[in-house]
Amino acid sequence: MALVKMKDILTKAEQENYGVGAFSIANMEMVMGAIKAAEELRSPLILQIAEVRLKHSPIHMIGPLMVAAAKEANVPVAVHFDHGMTIEKIKQTLEIGFSSVMYDGSHHPLEENIRNTKEVVKLAKQYGATVEAEIGRVGGSEDGSEDIEISLTSVEEAKRFAEETNVDALAIAIGNAHGMYKGNPNLRLDRLQEIDQQVDIPLVLHGGSGISAEDFKKCIQHGIRKINVATATFNSVMNTVNKSVEAAAYADYFIFHQDVIHAAYENVKHHMQIFGSCNRV
Ligand code: 13P
Repeated sequence: MALVKMKDILTKAEQENYGVGAFSIANMEMVMGAIKAAEELRSPLILQIAEVRLKHSPIHMIGPLMVAAAKEANVPVAVHFDHGMTIEKIKQTLEIGFSSVMYDGSHHPLEENIRNTKEVVKLAKQYGATVEAEIGRVGGSEDGSEDIEISLTSVEEAKRFAEETNVDALAIAIGNAHGMYKGNPNLRLDRLQEIDQQVDIPLVLHGGSGISAEDFKKCIQHGIRKINVATATFNSVMNTVNKSVEAAAYADYFIFHQDVIHAAYENVKHHMQIFGSCNRV
């Protein structure tokens, strides 16, 4: 149990055909809520934070907290660095004890993305950590600061990328986008199916917030093993706190603290039930 490699969590999910939620957190309360849900549902969990969020939650503080919480959990928890942009930052998270890192070179030309990803794979190996990378480009942006256009993953490029880099998991773009979707997400399940047939490693779906339960299940049927959820958790916390304040101003700080934990817990629980990861540990 406790802190495990993300690769181990995804290998089991692949063998038993379910998805595992990778939940982005911003503070201790969200970490506690996510772990509470995982322990209650007996589900593996991936706890993550993206590099762009470190301006709010500095890595030297939030990182050790995530690792400590994972070590204490009585279910398998991987601690993952999401959308790492530089080798230096990735190395810092590995030093802290993260069991998994993502290098996001999706904005670079293919050759450069391959070259940089190989460097990260070499580095992560020294720590026994798992590596995720991205090919094609997921839409929107992690913190809403840009509206990046979706660039669908090409099947040939995904195959070549996986073979040449030796990454453990591959994030793909099939019409998914970070942040809330403007309309209904239009996922290209046909493309996912083709990628799944050609690429042997577990596939990752970013932009989980706003995707329907039905679409999640179809994606899992076609090889998606890790599903990233960020905005839905942040919104769940915000809505819960707003509702409480509308009903009556907080009279005690620790009621607010409990509300944050509970809202994160509810959102994580909801997604774990859809992904089929409950009672897998
Ligand atoms: P959402 O904010 O759309 O859930 O995306 C999360 C994500 O993909 C993190 O990398």
